[in-house]
Amino acid sequence: MTLQYIKIVTVAVALTACSEPERSERAMGEESGGESDSERDVDLDTEEVVASAMAYESSLVRLSDAEETSETHADAASVFVWGSPEAAELYRSINPDDPTQALSFARGTTFVKEHFDEAGDLAGVTIMYKGPEGYDPEHGDWFWARVRGIEVTHAGRVDWCSDCHDAAHNTDFVVGFGKSG
Ligand code: HEC
Repeated sequence: MTLQYIKIVTVAVALTACSEPERSERAMGEESGGESDSERDVDLDTEEVVASAMAYESSLVRLSDAEETSETHADAASVFVWGSPEAAELYRSINPDDPTQALSFARGTTFVKEHFDEAGDLAGVTIMYKGPEGYDPEHGDWFWARVRGIEVTHAGRVDWCSDCHDAAHNTDFVVGFGKSG
């Protein structure tokens, strides 16, 4: 158990205790070490995935031209979505009104959503990273993380995130804009 791990868990516990729904206590399940789910033997370096996603301003492209109003991410008055350049076209092709659409993103695809508060300040980001085959087969093998300031409050196979994004399973759990409307 590394010091970093303890730090992240402590932060996650402290923050989730007061601000998130009950489900989030399972958010760090990936790293709890106690699970012996054979389907979940593929792992990711959480720290590395989050660190590389946090370099989004240089590695990703902006997928929305203007700040969008987020209807479901409670801490955000408005949001900007960034994504891997190779995924941009596919992301923009998502038609929230077409439930028959079926598409999936390449492994390694990253999405970062910036959340701004009502004053226009960056409150934090959420991250989706398409992991290797077998990482989380029931949820498109996506890795999820939420960062507020410099604190990683959630990281890994986060049910709280994937449960809601499941509404967009036809587009590989990626919502696009307008779907919540
Ligand atoms: C209550 C439902 C809900 C929950 C919970 C939720 N999301 Fe989302 N997410 C959405 C919706 C709706 C969008 C579309 C943009 C918007 O309205 O903000 C979205 C968009 C995103 C995007 C941009 C890519 C896309 O799918 O269009 C990322 C990245 C993201 N969410 C990450 C997360 C992470 C990480 C978590 C958990 C910490 C999470 N979300 C939890 C509903 C949810």
